[in-house]
Amino acid sequence: MPLIDKFNREINYIRLSVTDRCDFRCVYCMAEDMTFVPRAQLLSLEELTTVARCFTELGVTKIRVTGGEPLIRKDIGLLFEQLGQLPGLKELNLSSNGSRLDQYAKTLADAGVNRINVSLDSLKPERFRALTRTGDLTQVLAGIQAAKAEGFKRIKLNVVIMKNRNADEVLDLVNYALENELDISFIEEMPLGSITEHDRKEEFCSSAELRAIILEQHALQPLEDESAGPSRYWNIAGHDSRIGFISPHSENFCSSCNRVRLTAEGLLLLCLGNEHSVDLKAILRKHPGNDQMLKDAIVASMDIKPERHYFNHDDEPQIVRFMNATGG
Ligand code: 5AD
Ligand code: SF4
Repeated sequence: MPLIDKFNREINYIRLSVTDRCDFRCVYCMAEDMTFVPRAQLLSLEELTTVARCFTELGVTKIRVTGGEPLIRKDIGLLFEQLGQLPGLKELNLSSNGSRLDQYAKTLADAGVNRINVSLDSLKPERFRALTRTGDLTQVLAGIQAAKAEGFKRIKLNVVIMKNRNADEVLDLVNYALENELDISFIEEMPLGSITEHDRKEEFCSSAELRAIILEQHALQPLEDESAGPSRYWNIAGHDSRIGFISPHSENFCSSCNRVRLTAEGLLLLCLGNEHSVDLKAILRKHPGNDQMLKDAIVASMDIKPERHYFNHDDEPQIVRFMNATGG
């Protein structure tokens, strides 16, 4: 019995946030000064594996581990090992900021991780530092190379473009992806959490504007969509890289939504842009070992998955939680 919601969408994908902490403080994602969840309130590795197992037994075939920054969580290698062994799982993926990828690439490969996404908003060291407030570009680029050396295929860069901060690097970032045989996705900034450094409305760049910039140098060809998801992909003749655009503002993709998210605190979020949730941690801690209760709650949650998100720039932020709390 697959997980089907009220709008007849099949949910086969869960994004698991393993920590809300991060060693970066990206300006669009976090405030400078953040309060993180006390560690005792996070799901344990065992609880995370239990939730993941219940989801795979309910037909979920794809898991992405997110954060915060997943690789700063203690014993994270162990979690990947356990997730990698779940029967029925076809894809185990990671979203990372790359800061510890050189250290973990081999562990991830050995655990059977399939794909890695790395956030990369600038190729200029000083600007990279300013946008992440703490990040070291050299370290992240070394992480990407380490993942390539381990044999990871279709590593994807995630880029958030802000008109006055890094829009002048769109072509450089695309060319870096082409040269290194990486995929790259440009994400429109979303109104998640209250930020201080810039006005999201002023910095907004639509995916169509970005495609126009790329077209100055490359003949982009739209690719027919093979997988459900928010990214619309294009390619460039002679290159294997896919160029994706995630456009939560300008091209609504909710009708093909196939995913739910688990926050690091064990809250099941049914939609990135809405508050509807179910507290799975409460069930895990009140009825330890009772997989059936957990599965019943997951099945029941399908009834409250919202039809779509509404983001607009006029009364932001509509969602008070930050991306690191949501599970990037
Ligand atoms: N809007 C869009 N993307 C965001 N990310 C974090 N916060 C936001 C936001 N407010 C991105 C990160 C990372 C991905 C997981 O989410 O850059 O690449
Ligand atoms: Fe950390 Fe990712 Fe948020 Fe940047 S976007 S602060 S890397 S969680």
